[in-house]
Amino acid sequence: MKTTGGSDEQKRRAGERAAEAVEDGDVVGLGTGSTAAYAIRALGRAVDDGLDVVGIPTSFDSRQLAREVGVPVRSLEAIEGIDLAIDGADQFDSQLAAIKGGGAAHAREKVVAAAADRLVLVVDPSKSAATLTRSVPLEVLPDARPAVERDVADLGGASTLRRAERKDGPVVTDNGNLVLDCDFGPIDDPGRLASSLASVPGVVEHGLFVGLADAAYVGTDDGVEVRT
Ligand code: 5RP
Repeated sequence: MKTTGGSDEQKRRAGERAAEAVEDGDVVGLGTGSTAAYAIRALGRAVDDGLDVVGIPTSFDSRQLAREVGVPVRSLEAIEGIDLAIDGADQFDSQLAAIKGGGAAHAREKVVAAAADRLVLVVDPSKSAATLTRSVPLEVLPDARPAVERDVADLGGASTLRRAERKDGPVVTDNGNLVLDCDFGPIDDPGRLASSLASVPGVVEHGLFVGLADAAYVGTDDGVEVRT
């Protein structure tokens, strides 16, 4: 999986600190990406030491990893609520609005985040921004791609179809859809753009997470900074 940003040590600190916030008996949303993976591995070690948790994976990759490290998993449809979701981000601002979807998993990540009592972002300092500027990933129904590209242009964005790094062809999500990375330049009002994108027919989910995160655990070179 493509990873972005800071060092592995920074990511490890953030992920492991978030795993420490998990309590016995919790149902935990398991995010996707290299930073969330550190949290999943730490949870696996905690399960070995007797912690009783159930993980709700946000992607094929996070399910595989959870199984490998011994975190019991269930699907979202099988549970009534999530105590804590732990997930990475590609960029976040001081209000904890975030852009996600670097791993093309943002549709399920958002459903899990919204079902959780708390969402903790696990990030490194390179993800922090005064204003969100990164491209916003849209998971799009394949047939709807040209229409969505036109609607994105009407909203002032430029779309690029995400291509697979090691294969000749587009990235296909766990849900069988395509990903458009949409550049809107600096996003002055993430909430307004989120509402606009949510109303575009054919967009299964966009990667703007506004009003969902409760805290960001920022792994640094010598510790973890908690932002709320
Ligand atoms: C996947 C995501 C990831 O959480 C995001 O891309 C951050 O990944 P990483 O921790 O590897 O930098 O949104 O869809």
